[in-house]
Amino acid sequence: MSAPRLRTAILISGRGSNMASLIAAAKSPDFPAEIVLVLSNRPDAPGLASAKAQGFATAAVDHKIYAGREAFDASLQAMLEAHRIDFICLAGFMRLLTAGFTQAWQGRMINIHPALMPSYKGLHTHERALADGVKIHGCTVHYVVPDMDAGPIIAQAAVPVLDDDTPETLGARVLAQEHVIYPLALKLAASGLLHINGQRVLGAAPQALPALIVPHPH
Ligand code: GRF
Repeated sequence: MSAPRLRTAILISGRGSNMASLIAAAKSPDFPAEIVLVLSNRPDAPGLASAKAQGFATAAVDHKIYAGREAFDASLQAMLEAHRIDFICLAGFMRLLTAGFTQAWQGRMINIHPALMPSYKGLHTHERALADGVKIHGCTVHYVVPDMDAGPIIAQAAVPVLDDDTPETLGARVLAQEHVIYPLALKLAASGLLHINGQRVLGAAPQALPALIVPHPH
C-alpha cells in the first residue's frame, strides 16, 4: 500500500496563481500531497473565492481582528489543527509568522519567493533585480525558518533578464517558472525523500543540465 498523502494547507493573501498550480498537480491521485484547506488572512482574496468555487474547504483568518501576531498565529494554528493539517505551503501569504509558529512547523512548511535566494529578500524583487542590472533572475522554493525569505532551498528556476524588460514582463517570466517549481518542490518535500543538512536540501534526483548563460554565447 502506498504512503498516505500529506494533508496540505495552502496559505494565500491574493490572486492565488501558485495555489492553482499546486491544486492542479495534487489532482493526480499518486501525488504525495493532498490539498485539504485553502486559508487566507484576507477574506476578500480572489484565490479564496476561486478555491471555494472549486469545492475546496476554505477559511479566512482576518489578521485585522487580532491584537497582535501571537494571537493571529494561535488562531491560524487552531484552524490548521481542526483540519488535521500535516504540511503547509505559503503561496503569496503576506504575513510575517512568529518564530514560535515557524519553529512548530519547521520542516513541514515551505514558501515560494520570487527571486533567486539569498538575493532580494522581501518585496519588489523584480524592480530591484532590474535596477542592479543582473542578467539572471528567478524564483526559489524553500523551507520556512523564522528569518524572512531564508531557509533551506528545495528548488530554484532561473530566467534571463532581457534588455527591454519591465518589472511586469520580468515578473511574468519568473511567475511562469514559479508555477513549475512549486508543484515540483511540494512533490519532493512530501515524498519524504529529502533531507535537510544545514542550509542544503539533499535527496532530489541528480540532474545534468546545461548552464543558463545570458547573453547567449552563440
Ligand atoms: C508570487 O510571486 C510569489 O512568489 C510571491 O507572491 C506572489 C503570489 O502570487 N510570494 P500568486 O497569488 O500565487 O499569484
